[in-house]
Amino acid sequence: MIKFSRTVLAVVIVLVLIQFIPVNRTNEPVQAAEDFIQVMQTPPQVTALLKNACYDCHSNETVYPDYARVAPFSWSVKHHVNKGRRYANFSVWASYNDELKMNMLKKSAQTLKDHTMPMPAYINFHPEASLTPGERELLISYFESLAAEQ
Ligand code: HEC
Repeated sequence: MIKFSRTVLAVVIVLVLIQFIPVNRTNEPVQAAEDFIQVMQTPPQVTALLKNACYDCHSNETVYPDYARVAPFSWSVKHHVNKGRRYANFSVWASYNDELKMNMLKKSAQTLKDHTMPMPAYINFHPEASLTPGERELLISYFESLAAEQ
């Protein structure tokens, strides 16, 4: 019994201590002239979908949920945000060259078709990112029409 309580105590101490490891949740400032939505003059309906379903991980406008304040969840959230931004950051769209832009438009449509984006685990915590079939279709055709214009 004593052994069990020591283990529990050790776990609690570790859980408390890891809360002190800093996680940087500061967003880089967004330059309107570089942002995908501004540059493309995205229609409001599509803008709302992008902001709800993609911008938390693929922009510098991340809104961190409450659970992102508690380690170890905070590490997982930050990891996905960092990785998502590395693959595609809509806040710096204007800085990408034509090839990258084309690549991202096509891949955005593809990941939506494959249901790999928005990340399924994220949807569990963010019901607003749960796209109806019609909303998914709207985003796919938006990305595809931009790719065709490029
Ligand atoms: C919870 C965070 C999160 C959300 C929300 C999210 N993504 Fe991602 N996205 C990622 C991560 C992380 C990656 C890196 C690849 C991976 O780990 O699967 C990625 C990769 C991508 C890629 C690159 C795929 C490749 O193969 O190169 C595209 C394009 C993309 N996401 C588009 C979107 C679109 C469009 C949305 C909204 C409909 C979206 N993502 C929502 C986290 C996210």
